[in-house]
Amino acid sequence: MKNIYTLVCILIFALVACEKEQKPTNELEAKVSNLLSKMTLDEKIGQLNLRGTSSRVKGKLSDSLKQAVRDGKIGAFLNVNNTEYVDELQRIAVEESPNNIPLIFARDVIHGYKTIFPIPLGMAASWDAKVAENSSRVAAVEGASFGIRWTFAPMLDIARDSRWGRIAESPGEDPFLAANLSKAYVKGFQGDSLNDPTSMIACAKHFIGYGAAIGGRDYNTAVISDAQLHNIYLPPFKSAVDAGSQTFMTAFNEMNGIPASGDRRLLTNILREGFGFDGFVVSDWESTEEMIPHGFATDLKHAAEISLNAGLNMEMTSKAFEIHTKELLEEGKITEDQINSLVADILRVKLRMGLFEKPYRVDKSDNLYADAHLQMAKEAAIKSSVLLKNENNILPLNNKTNIAVIGPLADKPREQLGTWSFDGDGKFTKTPINAFQSSTVNYNFVEGLAYSRDKSTKDFSKAIAAAKQSDVILFIGGEEAILSGEAHSRSNINLPGAQEQLIKELAKTGKPIVLVIMAGRPITVGNIIDDVAAILMTWHPGTMGGPAIHDMVFGIAEPSGRLPVTWPKVAGQLPLFYNHKNTGRPVIPEEFVQMDSIPIGAWQSSLGNTSHYLDIGYLPQYPFGYGLGYTTFEYSDLVLSSDTLSKNEELTVKVTVKNTGKREGSDVAQLYVQDVVGRITRPVRELKGYKSVTLKPNETKEITFTLSLDDLKYYDNQSVYGVEKGTFNVWVGQHSATGKMAKFSYE
Ligand code: NOJ
Repeated sequence: MKNIYTLVCILIFALVACEKEQKPTNELEAKVSNLLSKMTLDEKIGQLNLRGTSSRVKGKLSDSLKQAVRDGKIGAFLNVNNTEYVDELQRIAVEESPNNIPLIFARDVIHGYKTIFPIPLGMAASWDAKVAENSSRVAAVEGASFGIRWTFAPMLDIARDSRWGRIAESPGEDPFLAANLSKAYVKGFQGDSLNDPTSMIACAKHFIGYGAAIGGRDYNTAVISDAQLHNIYLPPFKSAVDAGSQTFMTAFNEMNGIPASGDRRLLTNILREGFGFDGFVVSDWESTEEMIPHGFATDLKHAAEISLNAGLNMEMTSKAFEIHTKELLEEGKITEDQINSLVADILRVKLRMGLFEKPYRVDKSDNLYADAHLQMAKEAAIKSSVLLKNENNILPLNNKTNIAVIGPLADKPREQLGTWSFDGDGKFTKTPINAFQSSTVNYNFVEGLAYSRDKSTKDFSKAIAAAKQSDVILFIGGEEAILSGEAHSRSNINLPGAQEQLIKELAKTGKPIVLVIMAGRPITVGNIIDDVAAILMTWHPGTMGGPAIHDMVFGIAEPSGRLPVTWPKVAGQLPLFYNHKNTGRPVIPEEFVQMDSIPIGAWQSSLGNTSHYLDIGYLPQYPFGYGLGYTTFEYSDLVLSSDTLSKNEELTVKVTVKNTGKREGSDVAQLYVQDVVGRITRPVRELKGYKSVTLKPNETKEITFTLSLDDLKYYDNQSVYGVEKGTFNVWVGQHSATGKMAKFSYE
């Protein structure tokens, strides 16, 4: 009897489940199916088509373009940076196209639209998710006002090589920090609701491995093991899916021989089946077509076949899908079901955005450069600036000090905005000189060099004369915006032009030099580090960089950034990252051999046989997580709740932090873990937690972190996720090369 009852129950359950499967899972999917059922093949192919121009060409609305929209042959536009055109194209789409499917307008709104925030690498230095979220919210509010409802951000490429120009756009080298920022950016761009007129759908890019370009040369090949893929490169992307990012962009590069735009394992198996992503994926600019020079597709038709089968939904600017999809269907190289599914992903997002009900932009242009936006941009510039050196506490300066402001970036409104800031207006940018002009500071400004690459020494004498009249030299240099970003890799990452030479000449005056660096990447400073008393890295700080620098230099604010990337001594050390492996022959600091200590004519010998460079050793200039402030902190009493961690339990890690200096200040307490022995070798340290703490002089605070088994799990090269029993080291401290240490074991 009992068995019959169970059988009946199973049957009823199966019938209900079956019934459920036949019906669309919800209202949204019903709408998607309904639309799809009415669309012609041409319209479907149209949805896969992202049409665009480069950032500077405003273009003209030709009749043929309007007709293409009217015929439903375009699904989205890129860079229509003209509100009249946006409105007109959208009107044609929703009023005159066969199924009235709205367009999406996209643009690279990367670190601000009009109000420009620090470059993303700078934002990462804030280690502050709220600051990141604010920046993308402001960007969305300003950009959506122009009809841009889709941004190509956040860029989530882990970058370990400062030569790579796009490190400027990246969240740095650490997957844990990047995953936190990823969530914050997506939340900020997309806002509370996707159908709010100020919501901009996010695009997690570049999927994947772009930051692993060999030698830091843009677009170069990436070779990434499965363990690295899952442990290092994927976490920020997974985090973007979890935060609801509606779109993804493929990377230009190939990974292990397969270009990302044609990689089914990536786009379908990992992203959709693994992460549960149900938005759409766009290719990067012509990256489908570029599979031909990659040597992966024979021609454009083959490229379309590969990308469609991989699961790429939308093609950016090239026309492989537009030209060849029909033919591929006829030849049975793809199926109609596949096309339907690719189109459904796009329609789903358009429906979620509420574009069918509210297709038109809502003009909120009175918000551009709003005071609140400028304040947030200034706060972000302060929070992302990293004080690298501060000999004798020369900073902050007294505002009565007589200052010679020198350097090619002290008054360059466009340059301080950095890469990917197409819409930021130099007229609204506040340079350091603007900020000094509107304060009571006693300064004299002589540029010395006209731009960062300037090699001319003709104005050196004027700069030196100004320096001689001053108490302190404030040298504001670095890189112009054009020296980082896409296709702007450098092999030598010293200060460009004659900046080092000028600094050396200025040092001869005996006046202390405070060096402020505005740049898109870490700059190797070995040649001049002994000539300057202080180094403040502001990255490209954005619209409000000037007032932020003013306030930091005079101690009205404290620079509170911490390095999101390891800062090399020389480019020859790259790639360089803190979470490296130990090797079988790690350096023994007391034993490693420095080149100059090798006797002339020395017999070929092993020189210590450890992993280091003869000329530069093994240490970076500054480690990941490093940054000074205007006070000092002491860490003590690292206490674990237990010396073992078992399944389903949490381990509490407590540390006491004391402000040992003379003014209030903030620090970022960082927790690192090392899995001493693994089924594959494990990094020497991995960031697993961080907390910001603000303390008054002499104030003490206990900070608590928790660790669970999930924090220790990792992938091996068979994609197996887990952790085995053994010993773990844990550190809490101020950066990745220091900290109080304890041990625990997982049993
Ligand atoms: C190429 C870049 O790689 C990508 O990041 C950007 O979003 C597109 N161009 C569109 O401008």
